[in-house]
Amino acid sequence: MTRFDPFADFRMDGHSAIVTGGAQNIGEAIARTFAAAGAKVMIADLQGDKAEATAKAIAAETGQDVRGIGCDVTSEADIERCVGATVKAFGGLSTLVNNVGWGRAYDDCLDISAEEMVKSYQLNTVSAMRMTAVCRPHLLAAKNATITNSGSMVSVAPAFDFLPYSAAKAAMNHMMLGLAHNFAKQVRINTILIGTVITPGYADAGLDAAAQEKLMNPNNLTGRAGSPQDVANAFLWLASRAGGWVSGQTIQVHGGGARVRLKPE
Ligand SMILES: NC(=O)c1ccc[n+]([C@@H]2O[C@H](COP(=O)([O-])OP(=O)(O)OC[C@H]3O[C@@H](n4cnc5c(N)ncnc54)[C@H](O)[C@@H]3O)[C@@H](O)[C@H]2O)c1
Repeated sequence: MTRFDPFADFRMDGHSAIVTGGAQNIGEAIARTFAAAGAKVMIADLQGDKAEATAKAIAAETGQDVRGIGCDVTSEADIERCVGATVKAFGGLSTLVNNVGWGRAYDDCLDISAEEMVKSYQLNTVSAMRMTAVCRPHLLAAKNATITNSGSMVSVAPAFDFLPYSAAKAAMNHMMLGLAHNFAKQVRINTILIGTVITPGYADAGLDAAAQEKLMNPNNLTGRAGSPQDVANAFLWLASRAGGWVSGQTIQVHGGGARVRLKPE
């Protein structure tokens, strides 16, 4: 008698994925997790050399076909080149992860220029729309196709400091809901609302040492900050057959932090 394997649905054999911003941190953990589950993965990142180095390391660890490509997701030409290279290398594309995103804290919530608002929208929201558009024919031709996005807890919780970022991520939530309805019965689309994950990027996010210390010990329901792997596990669920009945959702993976978001003293 064959024994029931609850993990079989989490396998990604036969899948081919693009992970944007996968050269480091959360994107790297997603790429590694997908590859370990059996997927072929293209890491598309502005840091082309780092994308290739990360891909090489993951390929060696997992024995999978993992590649890296320099790609600016705000450039239409780069997106076309990246998607074309992926389809050529892997013979198709079933899985898109829109993981690129960036924001910084502002002391004065109204000392934000129009250019910074637009830049944040371009990077966090528009890029995911354009990646989706260029990937569309390949996703529609694939089996079990999915798009999963790196969203943020601050798209639904008060964001006193990260205003351009939180507004852009909130726009992405709604945009992806609309796209999930457009792709109904063809491609599942979900967005993960990520909370405080400690990565080296926090040092550059405009937070002082005291605020960073507070982030290390966040006031959430689990009492700890997240790791890239905490987040990657949720991406695997949604991108594999295990998440086969989940679409059009924002899934909150933040240690229960969205309920508590006070201004650091
Ligand atoms: N780290 C957190 O606590 C946290 C919290 C909530 C949401 N998120 C979201 O998770 C995602 C990943 O976060 P992270 O902390 O791992 O980010 P990170 O800054 O460490 O990595 C982002 C990657 O994206 C790449 N990148 C930046 N601009 C790009 C562009 N134009 N084109 C292609 N690649 C580009 C960078 O080179 C980098 O490798 C982001 O969308 C972020 O907004 C992170």
